[in-house]
Formats: sequence, structure tokens, C-alpha cells
Amino acid sequence: AALVGRRMRRRRKWGRVLGVLREVEEGCETSVGRLKQVVDAMAVEMHAGLASEGGSKLRMLLTFVDNLPSGSEKGTYYALHVGGTYFRMLRVKLGGQRSSILAHDVERQLIPQHLMTSTTEALFDFVASSLKEFVEREESSSSFPLDRRRELGFTFSYPVKQTSVSSGILIKWTKGFAIKDMVGKEVVECLQQALTRKGLSMRVSALVNDTVGTLALGHYHDEDTVAAVIIGTGTNACYVERMDAIIKCQGILTSSGVMVVNMEWGNFWSSHLPRTSYDIDLDAESPNPNEQGFEKMISGMYLGDIVRRVLLRMSQESDILGPISPTLLKPFILSTRLVANMHEDDSLDLAEVAEILRDNLEIPDVPLKVRKLVVNVCDVVTRRAARLAAAAIVGILKKIGRDGSGGITSGRSRSDIKMRRTAVAIEGSLYTNYSMFREYLNEAMVEILGEDVAEHVILNVMEDGSGIGASLLAASHASIDRDAVQ
Ligand code: GLC
Repeated sequence: AALVGRRMRRRRKWGRVLGVLREVEEGCETSVGRLKQVVDAMAVEMHAGLASEGGSKLRMLLTFVDNLPSGSEKGTYYALHVGGTYFRMLRVKLGGQRSSILAHDVERQLIPQHLMTSTTEALFDFVASSLKEFVEREESSSSFPLDRRRELGFTFSYPVKQTSVSSGILIKWTKGFAIKDMVGKEVVECLQQALTRKGLSMRVSALVNDTVGTLALGHYHDEDTVAAVIIGTGTNACYVERMDAIIKCQGILTSSGVMVVNMEWGNFWSSHLPRTSYDIDLDAESPNPNEQGFEKMISGMYLGDIVRRVLLRMSQESDILGPISPTLLKPFILSTRLVANMHEDDSLDLAEVAEILRDNLEIPDVPLKVRKLVVNVCDVVTRRAARLAAAAIVGILKKIGRDGSGGITSGRSRSDIKMRRTAVAIEGSLYTNYSMFREYLNEAMVEILGEDVAEHVILNVMEDGSGIGASLLAASHASIDRDAVQ
């Protein structure tokens, strides 16, 4: 009788845990039908955001970039990229022809946690000193000398209301940054003042979002590039829009008739998004509730924490993970990188899963069945993220008429549609370093677009795109200024 009782208890325990899993699976459902609703919602919100300021949660920010690098950019330029987790400093030598980056040096530094919530001065002083040291190292040892004054492309990966290609005001922080005194300030001025304090002479000739840098590099390598996507600590996209479609900026003319628009899609929202109670809790407990809802379902800053929340719930429902680990209660203790490592553990006994649970979450050795369950949770959360990102990309393609639905070709059968080759530049650790994420995203693109259209859509990975691209934009805008002076 004791044995039967134990078995019954075990079965009930598993029943509860599987119930949690089933509920998460249902909550994260991303059928093609639902993804297509997300595609449509994205396209609709894009229209709304372009029509009027505040017309949508999608800010659709003007970038004042109306010409993408042509290839004629030449000379040595610097770039600085302040991102979500790292900042990068680059020195790039451009050869004056398309795809001719003759050399580039990069240094990457982790942004110290305390600076993310400090003051503008503390953050920029730190960045400026590091940049100064980088410049000194480069110029004493580099094989490519600087033949003109130093020009910098500054990639600042936060929402900025630009007033020109080299100036703009920080609208708000995202990705865990919270330096209150900086909101509303001129970003370039903050940097320029710090550079002066540190005695580094450099002119900021372009201020760009990371998506815009990536688009610039993408276009430099592949002229069919129409959009760029970042899926890293945060997520966002930009694309090339016709000026006449940007209703809210009537009066601004560009010689090319187009402008790059920074969508800030991390803040996208739609009732069609599959949202779970874990997302709702994560949002409520975050420093920016009701903001960046899409980003919180997709990007690297958050995926690990969604998984942690599900595991915690399972642990509260039963003892399959042992007694509730106090570590599991700590927000953001489980990084997305660890989720990726567990998800991609291909050993038969899932040894790495056990190790990560033990070393990072203080969950003692668990049987294989439980390790599989943990992998399952990682899979559900990552798959949803990747598929939603795919739907968002197709949303852009739809908005610009590159999704093969072809209004112009209506009347003809789908197979007759002549789809133009369309390239999207993509960057960020989730797509580049997390192969399951990448596979799910690619797979969903085909499911949504259909194979005949999807084969014309190319996702080009841009390594260091946001930084190198910023140096390209610094170069093209530096030369515009020089022409103006002459
Ligand atoms: C966040 C920022 C956005 C950036 C993205 C990717 O969403 O608000 O500006 O492009 O992260 O880094």
C-alpha cells in the first residue's frame, strides 16, 4: 500500500508539472495563422506610427539618414558603439570602393553594471577615457595612419529623437539602463563634453542607432538590403522608407526621396501576441512596466528570466527540482546564454543541463527526465521568440511591398509574381550565436512567406555591423560637410 501511495503521489506531482508545461506551451502558441496576424498588426502599426507623432507604440523615428554608404567612402574613421551589455571601439580603414574595408580593429568592453544606473557624466567619462586609451594604442601601433582630423561614428542603441544625422535627444532608456539625468539630453553633447574633459579631440559626424549602423554595412555589402534587424540584449529594426509615406514629417525633403526609419519595434504591442502570465509578471516587476513589451518576449535580456520564472513555478508546484532553490527566486540570475547552452546540450545524459542547474541555480542533481523537461521549457520560450521576430520581419516586408503579396501584380496567380531579391541585414547574439533560435526564425520565415517568396529574401549576418556601419556613415557625412565647406 505504501508503494502504491508513493507512486500515486509521484504521478500527481508529474501531472502538476506537466500541467504547467502544457499551459506554457499553449500560452506561447505561434501557429502560422497567428504569426500572420502579427505580420498584419506590425504593418498596420507602422502606418500609424508614420502618420503622426504618438500615433502608435511603434515610434518610427526619423534618422536623417537619406543615403546609405555608396562605397566611395575612403580613409580612416573611428566608431564607438554603446550597446546594452558592451561598448565597442573601432577603427576602420575604408578603401573607396564597395565592400572594401581594408582593415578594422575592434575592442570590446563590458559596461560595468553600476554605470548603467549612475549619472550621465560617470557613464560618458568612463567611455571617453576608454576611447582615449584605444585611440592612443591605435595611433602608436597601427599600420594605417590617420591622414585627417579624427571623425567618429557614434552608435547609441537607445531610442533617440534625432534632429539631424549627428544630433538627437534621448527619449527613454531601455535594456536595464536607468540614468535619469540623461533622458531628454543631447546625446552627442554628452559625449563631446566628456571627450573634452578627457582631452581627446574628435568630431562626432554621425549619431546612429545600432540598427541603422547594421543597415549601412548591410547595404555596403549588398545593395538589395532594405532593412536591418538586431536581436541581442534588446531587439529592434530599421528600414528604408519613402519620404512621401512618412506623413508626420511633411516639409522635410531629401534628395534621394527616402529616409531610414528606426522603428523601435521593441515597444511594439498587439493583442495578437501570445502572452503568458510569466510575461505579465516579468513586465510588472521590470524597471519599465508597460514598455518594450515585444522586446520582453524576444530579446536576450529577458528570455532567460522567462525560463527562470517557469522553472520556479514548476518548483513551487512540486519537488521535482528539489526544495525551492533560493537562487531561483533571484530575477535575471539565469542568462539567455545559459538557456542556449542547456537547449543545445546534445549529450545523451544532458550533462550540461545538470551542471548549469547545479552551478548557476543551485538545483542539485536531477534525473534525466527532469533535465529533458528543462530543455523543453527553453525550447518553448525560444521558439516563440524566434517566430515572433520572423513575423515582425515579414511585417516590414509587407509594409514595403516585398512580401510577395504584390498589390501591383494582383490578378496574376501567386506563382507568377516576380519577387525582387530582398536582403535584410541581421545582427545580435541571439541570431548569430544561438543556432536553435536562428533555425526557428528561418523556418518561420518560410512558413509565413511560402517557399517561393522566401527564397528571394536573404538574411545577411553582419558581424560588428552596428560599429563598422557607423564608421561608414561617419565617412559619408564627413565628406558631405567637407564638400559644403569647399
Ligand atoms: C533596444 C533599444 C533600441 C536598440 C535595440 C537593440 O530596443 O531601444 O534602440 O536598437 O535595443 O539594441
